[in-house]
Amino acid sequence: MAAESKVTILTIVVLLGSLIALYAAAGGMAITNATPQPIDFFHRVHAGEKHIACAFCHRTYRTEAYAGMPSTELCMRCHRVVIPHHPEIQLLHQYWDSHKAIPWERVNRLPGFVFFDHQAHVKHGVACAVCHGPVAQMDRLIQTAPLTMGWCVQCHRSKRASIECATCHR
Ligand code: HEC
Ligand code: HEC
Ligand code: HEC
Ligand code: HEC
Ligand code: HEC
Repeated sequence: MAAESKVTILTIVVLLGSLIALYAAAGGMAITNATPQPIDFFHRVHAGEKHIACAFCHRTYRTEAYAGMPSTELCMRCHRVVIPHHPEIQLLHQYWDSHKAIPWERVNRLPGFVFFDHQAHVKHGVACAVCHGPVAQMDRLIQTAPLTMGWCVQCHRSKRASIECATCHR
Protein backbone atom coordinates (compact mmCIF):
# COMPACT_ATOMS: atom_id res chain seq x y z
CA MET A 1 0.00 0.00 0.00
CA ALA A 2 1.29 3.46 -0.82
CA ALA A 3 2.36 5.60 2.13
CA GLU A 4 -0.18 8.25 1.15
CA SER A 5 -3.20 5.94 1.34
CA LYS A 6 -1.98 4.63 4.71
CA VAL A 7 -1.94 8.20 5.95
CA THR A 8 -5.45 8.77 4.55
CA ILE A 9 -6.78 5.66 6.29
CA LEU A 10 -5.13 6.73 9.54
CA THR A 11 -6.73 10.17 9.25
CA ILE A 12 -10.16 8.62 8.69
CA VAL A 13 -9.73 6.34 11.73
CA VAL A 14 -8.70 9.27 13.91
CA LEU A 15 -11.62 11.40 12.64
CA LEU A 16 -14.11 8.59 13.27
CA GLY A 17 -12.71 8.19 16.78
CA SER A 18 -13.27 11.85 17.61
CA LEU A 19 -16.79 11.75 16.15
CA ILE A 20 -17.64 8.78 18.38
CA ALA A 21 -16.16 10.59 21.40
CA LEU A 22 -18.28 13.69 20.64
CA TYR A 23 -21.42 11.58 20.22
CA ALA A 24 -20.70 9.80 23.49
CA ALA A 25 -20.15 13.14 25.23
CA ALA A 26 -23.57 14.28 24.04
CA GLY A 27 -25.09 11.36 25.94
CA GLY A 28 -25.88 9.32 22.86
CA MET A 29 -24.16 6.14 24.05
CA ALA A 30 -22.26 4.54 26.91
CA ILE A 31 -19.39 6.82 27.82
CA THR A 32 -15.99 5.27 28.30
CA ASN A 33 -13.67 8.26 28.41
CA ALA A 34 -15.61 10.56 30.75
CA THR A 35 -14.30 11.20 34.26
CA PRO A 36 -15.90 8.69 36.66
CA GLN A 37 -17.63 10.44 39.58
CA PRO A 38 -18.50 9.23 43.11
CA ILE A 39 -22.21 9.69 42.27
CA ASP A 40 -23.44 9.20 38.72
CA PHE A 41 -24.76 12.74 38.34
CA PHE A 42 -26.17 13.72 34.93
CA HIS A 43 -26.16 17.33 33.73
CA ARG A 44 -28.55 16.23 30.95
CA VAL A 45 -31.23 15.47 33.57
CA HIS A 46 -30.71 18.52 35.83
CA ALA A 47 -29.63 21.35 33.49
CA GLY A 48 -31.37 19.82 30.44
CA GLU A 49 -34.68 18.06 31.20
CA LYS A 50 -35.37 19.81 34.53
CA HIS A 51 -34.05 23.22 33.37
CA ILE A 52 -32.20 23.95 36.62
CA ALA A 53 -30.03 27.06 35.98
CA CYS A 54 -26.24 26.62 35.99
CA ALA A 55 -26.07 29.41 38.61
CA PHE A 56 -28.31 27.44 40.97
CA CYS A 57 -25.45 24.97 41.53
CA HIS A 58 -22.41 26.99 40.39
CA ARG A 59 -23.20 30.05 42.48
CA THR A 60 -20.13 32.25 42.16
CA TYR A 61 -19.27 32.43 38.45
CA ARG A 62 -20.75 35.92 38.11
CA THR A 63 -18.84 37.36 41.06
CA GLU A 64 -15.64 35.31 41.51
CA ALA A 65 -12.80 33.60 39.69
CA TYR A 66 -14.06 30.24 40.97
CA ALA A 67 -17.37 29.04 39.47
CA GLY A 68 -18.39 27.24 42.68
CA MET A 69 -19.56 23.69 43.33
CA PRO A 70 -22.89 22.64 44.91
CA SER A 71 -22.89 21.54 48.55
CA THR A 72 -24.36 18.18 49.57
CA GLU A 73 -27.06 20.18 51.34
CA LEU A 74 -28.14 21.74 48.06
CA CYS A 75 -28.63 18.29 46.51
CA MET A 76 -30.52 17.16 49.63
CA ARG A 77 -33.00 20.02 49.36
CA CYS A 78 -34.54 18.17 46.43
CA HIS A 79 -33.42 14.61 47.04
CA ARG A 80 -34.93 14.19 50.50
CA VAL A 81 -38.15 13.77 48.50
CA VAL A 82 -37.16 13.34 44.84
CA ILE A 83 -36.44 9.64 44.00
CA PRO A 84 -35.09 8.93 47.56
CA HIS A 85 -34.85 5.17 46.88
CA HIS A 86 -32.77 5.49 43.69
CA PRO A 87 -29.43 3.70 44.34
CA GLU A 88 -27.34 6.79 43.45
CA ILE A 89 -29.49 8.93 45.77
CA GLN A 90 -28.94 6.36 48.53
CA LEU A 91 -25.21 7.06 48.05
CA LEU A 92 -25.93 10.79 48.31
CA HIS A 93 -27.80 10.18 51.60
CA GLN A 94 -24.76 8.25 52.93
CA TYR A 95 -22.48 11.24 52.30
CA TRP A 96 -25.02 13.53 53.96
CA ASP A 97 -25.55 11.28 57.01
CA SER A 98 -21.79 10.90 57.59
CA HIS A 99 -21.15 14.68 57.12
CA LYS A 100 -18.71 14.01 54.29
CA ALA A 101 -18.29 16.28 51.28
CA ILE A 102 -18.80 14.46 47.96
CA PRO A 103 -15.30 14.04 46.45
CA TRP A 104 -16.19 15.18 42.89
CA GLU A 105 -13.34 14.53 40.45
CA ARG A 106 -12.11 17.55 38.49
CA VAL A 107 -12.86 17.50 34.74
CA ASN A 108 -11.06 20.72 33.70
CA ARG A 109 -7.92 21.65 35.58
CA LEU A 110 -5.21 24.18 34.79
CA PRO A 111 -1.73 23.85 36.26
CA GLY A 112 -1.29 25.74 39.56
CA PHE A 113 0.80 28.50 37.94
CA VAL A 114 -2.07 29.63 35.68
CA PHE A 115 -4.72 32.07 36.89
CA PHE A 116 -8.21 31.84 35.39
CA ASP A 117 -11.20 34.03 36.20
CA HIS A 118 -14.81 33.04 35.45
CA GLN A 119 -16.26 36.43 36.30
CA ALA A 120 -14.11 38.25 33.72
CA HIS A 121 -15.25 35.93 30.91
CA VAL A 122 -18.92 35.78 31.86
CA LYS A 123 -19.05 39.60 32.11
CA HIS A 124 -17.76 39.82 28.54
CA GLY A 125 -20.42 37.44 27.29
CA VAL A 126 -18.21 34.39 26.67
CA ALA A 127 -20.76 31.55 27.00
CA CYS A 128 -20.07 28.46 29.15
CA ALA A 129 -20.41 26.31 26.02
CA VAL A 130 -17.39 27.97 24.35
CA CYS A 131 -15.14 26.34 26.93
CA HIS A 132 -17.27 23.49 28.32
CA GLY A 133 -19.35 22.29 25.36
CA PRO A 134 -23.09 21.44 25.37
CA VAL A 135 -23.17 20.61 29.11
CA ALA A 136 -26.98 20.44 29.33
CA GLN A 137 -26.95 17.55 26.84
CA MET A 138 -24.21 15.55 28.53
CA ASP A 139 -24.58 12.74 31.02
CA ARG A 140 -21.06 12.71 32.41
CA LEU A 141 -18.86 15.65 31.48
CA ILE A 142 -15.64 15.59 29.51
CA GLN A 143 -13.09 18.33 28.85
CA THR A 144 -14.09 19.83 25.49
CA ALA A 145 -11.50 22.63 25.04
CA PRO A 146 -7.72 22.09 24.85
CA LEU A 147 -7.02 24.59 27.70
CA THR A 148 -3.53 25.21 26.32
CA MET A 149 -1.82 28.58 26.43
CA GLY A 150 -2.09 28.88 22.63
CA TRP A 151 -5.86 28.39 22.85
CA CYS A 152 -6.27 31.03 25.58
CA VAL A 153 -4.01 33.57 23.85
CA GLN A 154 -5.64 33.08 20.43
CA CYS A 155 -9.02 34.21 21.77
CA HIS A 156 -7.49 36.99 23.88
CA ARG A 157 -5.86 38.37 20.71
CA SER A 158 -9.08 38.22 18.70
CA LYS A 159 -11.15 39.87 21.48
CA ARG A 160 -8.48 42.40 22.37
CA ALA A 161 -8.19 41.01 25.89
CA SER A 162 -4.81 41.24 27.62
CA ILE A 163 -1.99 38.94 26.47
CA GLU A 164 0.48 40.20 29.11
CA CYS A 165 2.15 37.24 30.81
CA ALA A 166 1.04 38.52 34.23
CA THR A 167 -2.66 38.31 33.26
CA CYS A 168 -2.52 34.53 33.48
CA HIS A 169 0.74 33.98 35.38
CA ARG A 170 0.74 35.76 38.73
C1 HEC B 1 -33.84 21.56 42.19
C2 HEC B 1 -33.96 20.14 42.51
C3 HEC B 1 -32.72 19.26 42.38
C4 HEC B 1 -31.45 19.47 42.87
C5 HEC B 1 -30.94 20.69 43.62
C6 HEC B 1 -30.70 18.28 42.56
N1 HEC B 1 -31.47 17.38 41.89
FE1 HEC B 1 -30.91 15.51 41.29
N2 HEC B 1 -32.69 15.28 40.34
C7 HEC B 1 -33.75 16.16 40.41
C8 HEC B 1 -34.85 15.65 39.60
C9 HEC B 1 -36.22 16.32 39.41
C10 HEC B 1 -34.40 14.41 39.06
C11 HEC B 1 -35.18 13.46 38.13
C12 HEC B 1 -36.00 12.57 39.00
C13 HEC B 1 -36.80 11.55 38.20
O1 HEC B 1 -36.19 10.90 37.34
O2 HEC B 1 -37.98 11.45 38.46
C14 HEC B 1 -33.04 14.20 39.56
C15 HEC B 1 -32.28 13.07 39.30
C16 HEC B 1 -31.08 12.78 39.92
C17 HEC B 1 -30.34 11.54 39.77
C18 HEC B 1 -30.74 10.37 38.91
C19 HEC B 1 -30.50 10.74 37.44
C20 HEC B 1 -29.11 11.21 37.24
O3 HEC B 1 -28.90 12.42 37.06
O4 HEC B 1 -28.21 10.37 37.33
C21 HEC B 1 -29.20 11.66 40.53
C22 HEC B 1 -28.11 10.63 40.73
C23 HEC B 1 -29.21 13.00 41.12
N3 HEC B 1 -30.38 13.63 40.74
C24 HEC B 1 -28.20 13.50 41.93
C25 HEC B 1 -28.14 14.83 42.37
C26 HEC B 1 -27.00 15.41 43.04
C27 HEC B 1 -25.71 14.69 43.39
C28 HEC B 1 -27.32 16.71 43.30
C29 HEC B 1 -26.45 17.79 43.91
C30 HEC B 1 -25.22 18.10 43.20
C31 HEC B 1 -28.66 16.93 42.79
N4 HEC B 1 -29.13 15.77 42.22
C32 HEC B 1 -29.35 18.12 42.90
C33 HEC B 1 -33.78 17.34 41.11
C34 HEC B 1 -32.72 17.94 41.76
C1 HEC C 1 -28.13 20.43 40.09
C2 HEC C 1 -26.80 21.00 40.14
C3 HEC C 1 -26.07 21.38 38.88
C4 HEC C 1 -26.53 22.14 37.81
C5 HEC C 1 -27.92 22.73 37.59
C6 HEC C 1 -25.39 22.32 36.93
N1 HEC C 1 -24.30 21.66 37.43
FE1 HEC C 1 -22.42 21.65 36.67
N2 HEC C 1 -21.79 20.37 38.11
C7 HEC C 1 -22.61 19.87 39.13
C8 HEC C 1 -21.89 18.81 39.82
C9 HEC C 1 -22.42 17.99 40.99
C10 HEC C 1 -20.62 18.70 39.20
C11 HEC C 1 -19.50 17.70 39.55
C12 HEC C 1 -19.77 16.38 38.86
C13 HEC C 1 -19.54 16.42 37.38
O1 HEC C 1 -18.46 16.84 36.93
O2 HEC C 1 -20.47 16.04 36.62
C14 HEC C 1 -20.60 19.69 38.14
C15 HEC C 1 -19.51 19.92 37.30
C16 HEC C 1 -19.49 20.87 36.29
C17 HEC C 1 -18.34 21.18 35.47
C18 HEC C 1 -16.98 20.51 35.54
C19 HEC C 1 -16.14 21.13 36.64
C20 HEC C 1 -14.72 20.63 36.54
O3 HEC C 1 -14.29 19.87 37.42
O4 HEC C 1 -14.05 20.97 35.57
C21 HEC C 1 -18.73 22.11 34.56
C22 HEC C 1 -17.87 22.73 33.47
C23 HEC C 1 -20.12 22.41 34.81
N3 HEC C 1 -20.54 21.64 35.88
C24 HEC C 1 -20.87 23.29 34.08
C25 HEC C 1 -22.24 23.48 34.21
C26 HEC C 1 -23.05 24.27 33.31
C27 HEC C 1 -22.53 25.03 32.11
C28 HEC C 1 -24.35 24.19 33.77
C29 HEC C 1 -25.58 24.79 33.14
C30 HEC C 1 -25.82 24.45 31.74
C31 HEC C 1 -24.33 23.35 34.96
N4 HEC C 1 -23.05 22.93 35.18
C32 HEC C 1 -25.44 23.04 35.74
C33 HEC C 1 -23.87 20.30 39.44
C34 HEC C 1 -24.67 21.08 38.61
C1 HEC D 1 -13.09 31.03 28.69
C2 HEC D 1 -13.33 29.69 29.10
C3 HEC D 1 -14.38 29.37 30.15
C4 HEC D 1 -15.68 29.82 30.22
C5 HEC D 1 -16.38 30.81 29.30
C6 HEC D 1 -16.28 29.15 31.34
N1 HEC D 1 -15.36 28.34 31.95
FE1 HEC D 1 -15.67 27.11 33.56
N2 HEC D 1 -13.70 26.61 33.58
C7 HEC D 1 -12.78 27.01 32.64
C8 HEC D 1 -11.45 26.57 33.05
C9 HEC D 1 -10.16 26.84 32.32
C10 HEC D 1 -11.63 25.85 34.27
C11 HEC D 1 -10.54 25.21 35.13
C12 HEC D 1 -10.03 26.28 36.10
C13 HEC D 1 -8.83 25.89 36.92
O1 HEC D 1 -8.41 24.74 36.92
O2 HEC D 1 -8.32 26.79 37.61
C14 HEC D 1 -13.08 25.89 34.56
C15 HEC D 1 -13.66 25.31 35.67
C16 HEC D 1 -15.03 25.30 35.92
C17 HEC D 1 -15.67 24.66 37.06
C18 HEC D 1 -14.98 23.96 38.21
C19 HEC D 1 -14.81 24.95 39.38
C20 HEC D 1 -13.80 26.03 39.10
O3 HEC D 1 -14.20 27.22 39.02
O4 HEC D 1 -12.62 25.70 38.94
C21 HEC D 1 -17.02 24.86 36.93
C22 HEC D 1 -18.11 24.39 37.87
C23 HEC D 1 -17.22 25.65 35.72
N3 HEC D 1 -16.00 25.90 35.13
C24 HEC D 1 -18.46 26.09 35.28
C25 HEC D 1 -18.64 27.07 34.31
C26 HEC D 1 -19.92 27.71 34.00
C27 HEC D 1 -21.25 27.41 34.68
C28 HEC D 1 -19.67 28.63 33.01
C29 HEC D 1 -20.63 29.61 32.35
C30 HEC D 1 -21.36 30.50 33.26
C31 HEC D 1 -18.24 28.56 32.70
N4 HEC D 1 -17.66 27.61 33.51
C32 HEC D 1 -17.59 29.33 31.73
C33 HEC D 1 -13.02 27.74 31.51
C34 HEC D 1 -14.20 28.42 31.24
C1 HEC E 1 -13.31 32.59 23.79
C2 HEC E 1 -12.41 33.63 24.21
C3 HEC E 1 -11.52 33.44 25.41
C4 HEC E 1 -10.84 32.31 25.81
C5 HEC E 1 -10.83 30.94 25.12
C6 HEC E 1 -10.10 32.66 27.00
N1 HEC E 1 -10.35 33.96 27.33
FE1 HEC E 1 -9.61 34.93 28.99
N2 HEC E 1 -10.68 36.59 28.51
C7 HEC E 1 -11.47 36.73 27.39
C8 HEC E 1 -12.11 38.05 27.43
C9 HEC E 1 -13.05 38.63 26.38
C10 HEC E 1 -11.68 38.67 28.64
C11 HEC E 1 -12.07 40.05 29.18
C12 HEC E 1 -11.08 41.06 28.78
C13 HEC E 1 -11.29 42.40 29.47
O1 HEC E 1 -11.55 42.42 30.69
O2 HEC E 1 -11.20 43.40 28.79
C14 HEC E 1 -10.79 37.71 29.30
C15 HEC E 1 -10.18 37.96 30.51
C16 HEC E 1 -9.32 37.08 31.16
C17 HEC E 1 -8.68 37.33 32.43
C18 HEC E 1 -8.91 38.55 33.31
C19 HEC E 1 -8.03 39.67 32.91
C20 HEC E 1 -8.20 40.82 33.87
O3 HEC E 1 -7.82 41.91 33.47
O4 HEC E 1 -8.69 40.63 34.97
C21 HEC E 1 -7.90 36.24 32.70
C22 HEC E 1 -7.03 36.04 33.93
C23 HEC E 1 -8.05 35.32 31.61
N3 HEC E 1 -8.91 35.86 30.69
C24 HEC E 1 -7.41 34.10 31.52
C25 HEC E 1 -7.68 33.14 30.54
C26 HEC E 1 -7.07 31.82 30.50
C27 HEC E 1 -6.03 31.31 31.48
C28 HEC E 1 -7.61 31.18 29.43
C29 HEC E 1 -7.36 29.78 28.96
C30 HEC E 1 -7.46 28.70 29.94
C31 HEC E 1 -8.55 32.10 28.79
N4 HEC E 1 -8.55 33.28 29.48
C32 HEC E 1 -9.28 31.78 27.67
C33 HEC E 1 -11.66 35.81 26.39
C34 HEC E 1 -11.19 34.48 26.40
C1 HEC F 1 -4.40 34.17 28.33
C2 HEC F 1 -3.61 33.41 29.28
C3 HEC F 1 -2.10 33.29 29.14
C4 HEC F 1 -1.22 34.29 28.84
C5 HEC F 1 -1.50 35.74 28.47
C6 HEC F 1 0.11 33.70 28.94
N1 HEC F 1 -0.01 32.37 29.28
FE1 HEC F 1 1.57 31.08 29.60
N2 HEC F 1 0.23 29.55 29.94
C7 HEC F 1 -1.14 29.68 29.93
C8 HEC F 1 -1.73 28.38 30.17
C9 HEC F 1 -3.22 28.07 30.22
C10 HEC F 1 -0.66 27.47 30.36
C11 HEC F 1 -0.77 25.98 30.72
C12 HEC F 1 -1.13 25.15 29.54
C13 HEC F 1 -0.01 24.99 28.59
O1 HEC F 1 1.12 24.64 29.03
O2 HEC F 1 -0.24 25.20 27.38
C14 HEC F 1 0.57 28.24 30.21
C15 HEC F 1 1.86 27.72 30.29
C16 HEC F 1 3.02 28.48 30.24
C17 HEC F 1 4.35 27.93 30.44
C18 HEC F 1 4.68 26.49 30.72
C19 HEC F 1 4.80 25.74 29.44
C20 HEC F 1 5.07 24.28 29.64
O3 HEC F 1 5.33 23.62 28.64
O4 HEC F 1 4.99 23.80 30.77
C21 HEC F 1 5.24 28.97 30.30
C22 HEC F 1 6.75 28.92 30.43
C23 HEC F 1 4.44 30.16 30.00
N3 HEC F 1 3.09 29.81 29.97
C24 HEC F 1 4.97 31.43 29.78
C25 HEC F 1 4.25 32.53 29.39
C26 HEC F 1 4.85 33.82 29.01
C27 HEC F 1 6.33 34.13 29.00
C28 HEC F 1 3.80 34.66 28.68
C29 HEC F 1 3.87 36.09 28.18
C30 HEC F 1 4.59 36.27 26.93
C31 HEC F 1 2.56 33.89 28.87
N4 HEC F 1 2.88 32.62 29.27
C32 HEC F 1 1.28 34.40 28.68
C33 HEC F 1 -1.87 30.84 29.74
C34 HEC F 1 -1.34 32.08 29.41
